Amino acid sequence: MGKVRTGLSVSLDGFISGPNDGAEAPMGDGGERLLAWYAGGDTEYPMPGTDMVFKVSPQTAEFLRETRETTGALVFGRRTFDLTNGWGGKHPLDVPVFVVSSSVPQEWVYEGSPFTFVTDGLESALEQAKAVAGDKDVGVGAASIVQQCIRAGLLDEIHLDLVPVLLGGGVRLFDHLGTGPIDLERTRVIEGAGVTHLTYRVVK
Ligand SMILES: NC(=O)c1ccc[n+]([C@@H]2O[C@H](COP(=O)([O-])OP(=O)(O)OC[C@H]3O[C@@H](n4cnc5c(N)ncnc54)[C@H](OP(=O)(O)O)[C@@H]3O)[C@@H](O)[C@H]2O)c1
Repeated sequence: MGKVRTGLSVSLDGFISGPNDGAEAPMGDGGERLLAWYAGGDTEYPMPGTDMVFKVSPQTAEFLRETRETTGALVFGRRTFDLTNGWGGKHPLDVPVFVVSSSVPQEWVYEGSPFTFVTDGLESALEQAKAVAGDKDVGVGAASIVQQCIRAGLLDEIHLDLVPVLLGGGVRLFDHLGTGPIDLERTRVIEGAGVTHLTYRVVK
């Protein structure tokens, strides 16, 4: 069985997007800085199955390759789905995506769609994602989904792409967690260009 883990770019002050996210600026004001590291290095990483070519450090390229190989499914919240317009039709990782929502957008329901809209809750979405992921990992996002996973004790690993910027506002990743410390064990640190990839195991 794979892990349930995050994989989000985050500012040093803990935001995964800047203020005022919306159709014009899906990552909010200044939030595009969180993704600048995809073009911050000198090693090309062509994303398989897409026409995207990232330019990153060699270590980051290896990490992106590994992430692609070990991710079997994704669970995302409806806001991210809507803001990205369904990642233009298919998530770049090219795996099934389970979108947690209170409603189903019928225009996205068609034979062979990579998206499944889950209206009976996060745990149901995670179960369905784990079933298709098999021994691979399930990636979860964005903030509201990660917070629900943590509160329910369902998150195994926190992976962050830490970006050296203070956004000052926006969508905060570790919000609404309730009281009480949650212990983490750092398991990996990868220095990239304009980013530090950090991985922590959630101690249960
Ligand atoms: N930095 C990064 O790497 C990164 C990556 C992805 C996204 N983002 C950013 O993250 C932000 C979006 O995150 P977010 O936390 O605001 O929203 P989100 O998690 O993407 O979506 C939240 C929505 O999902 C639905 N939902 C969540 N839990 C549910 C449940 N248990 N049952 C039914 N529906 C549920 C609700 O939508 P409905 O009730 O309307 O259906 C809710 O409003 C955006 O700014 C985006 O740009 C950043």
